Amino acid sequence: MSDINMSVNFCGIEFKNPIVTASGTFGFGSEYNEYAALSEYGGIGTKGITRRERAGNAPPRIAETPSGILNSVGLQNPGVEAFAADIMPRLAEIDTNVIVNMSGNTIEEYCEMAEILSDTDAAAIEMNISCPNVRHGGLAFGTNPDVVYELTREVKAVSKKPLVVKLSPNVTSVTDIALAAQRGGADALSLINTLLGMKIDINTRRPVLANNMGGLSGPAVKPVAVRMIYQTAQAADIPIIGMGGVMSGADVIELMLAGASLVALGTGMFIEPDLILRVKREMAEYCAKFGITDITELTGAVKIN
Ligand SMILES: Cc1cc2nc3c(=O)[nH]c(=O)nc-3n(C[C@H](O)[C@H](O)[C@H](O)COP(=O)(O)O)c2cc1C
Repeated sequence: MSDINMSVNFCGIEFKNPIVTASGTFGFGSEYNEYAALSEYGGIGTKGITRRERAGNAPPRIAETPSGILNSVGLQNPGVEAFAADIMPRLAEIDTNVIVNMSGNTIEEYCEMAEILSDTDAAAIEMNISCPNVRHGGLAFGTNPDVVYELTREVKAVSKKPLVVKLSPNVTSVTDIALAAQRGGADALSLINTLLGMKIDINTRRPVLANNMGGLSGPAVKPVAVRMIYQTAQAADIPIIGMGGVMSGADVIELMLAGASLVALGTGMFIEPDLILRVKREMAEYCAKFGITDITELTGAVKIN
């Protein structure tokens, strides 16, 4: 990759390459370090943090589906204070950017977490809005533009880090939500989160997941991700972290052409834990073949018919 500039300036932060990890698929990185050095990534998206510690949902919480998985892990994590005190200092020693993902049940919880995370070495905060809003009968924050606007505005007001709002695909118009987040002051957007799905065991007649429903990820969702990234990039003026079903360098390039500035690896790493190494090799081959000298040339460069 020596003659190709792979670096991306994202929200004023320098990423040495556009590859990051998708929240919840990489833990805090320690399980993956033996496959590829964490410094190989432009950035690391951490497992979703909540205001207080959570045990997560009962098992089974992962089920295989054609070209994907359903998960209902339920945000198992040690809570924001333990994260900031014990985990973040270790991550800060790695030569990469840390994007801390957070999930809340109320606007107050999100704001408290943003304040705590603002005083850490995190490069950016990624706000997962696919969470139930307890004040609004448990409907996900990310499905209502007015709620997304208000949430983003309040969190942005207390956050000293760039704020990335992570969009849910379980909506009618992803651009309405994207524009609401942008109006609220989001510095960037990330998409897509998982698609709500369900799998039933026909012998027991019971759902396979203990939680009945779960989020679909993996190659099955990639066309949805490409479409939503494209639509969002057309509508919004802020940069995008794209994710959804990436399994190769070609997939990263496809999401960049649709409009992503950075691209996250997620479920693909469950199959190939050192996927980052192959992805970087394949991206370099593509750039050499098409004479691309700067990777940022690809962002949004799709030629629409
Ligand atoms: C097991 C699992 C846990 C996840 N946990 C989170 C999470 O805590 N917060 C979040 O914003 N997204 C979470 N996601 C969604 C991923 O970050 C990503 O948006 C989605 O899986 C699509 O990418 P992929 O198909 O490459 O996995 C999770 C996904 C999986 C598979």
